[in-house]
Amino acid sequence: MMKQTLNIHYEEYASVDQMLPEDQELVAACREAQKGSYSPYSNFQVGAALRLANGLIVKGANQENAAYPSGLCAERVAMFWASANYPDVPFDTLAIAGSDHGVLCESPASPCGACRQVMAEYQKKYKHPFKIILVGSKRIRKFNQVEDVLPFIFDSLTIG
Ligand code: THU
Repeated sequence: MMKQTLNIHYEEYASVDQMLPEDQELVAACREAQKGSYSPYSNFQVGAALRLANGLIVKGANQENAAYPSGLCAERVAMFWASANYPDVPFDTLAIAGSDHGVLCESPASPCGACRQVMAEYQKKYKHPFKIILVGSKRIRKFNQVEDVLPFIFDSLTIG
């Protein structure tokens, strides 16, 4: 038996002003996307903004349903829409912000496991790592690839 250690690298910013201009733009876009949240059950508004490799920014927001599992997270709304409408354009960066009753969380809301698995799928589809930015009011985290939010990714043995 050998004990192993896994290191995950990410950048943490105290303010959006410290970020690259293109990241600042994407953070603003995911904040804007939160306005599209339909979350009468949780009152948790999530916005996602996905920059594609062609520069286009696609937005998504969480959509809830009285039959709870029928709703969908903001990230998946954005990623599914992007892949459905621009199937050949890789993802570049995905920014996500979550607010509780309209107030941006101090520590960034983290994507759920299902969304991370979907991120992994698109990284595989496009054979192109993409960045993830998690936005909170006190700190913002930036990851360079999906492996950094989902270590030990499940990868089907039959595809790819
Ligand atoms: N939600 C997201 O939109 N993204 C996530 O990664 C986690 C959770 C949504 C689902 C639900 O509408 C609300 O946040 C509360 O869980």
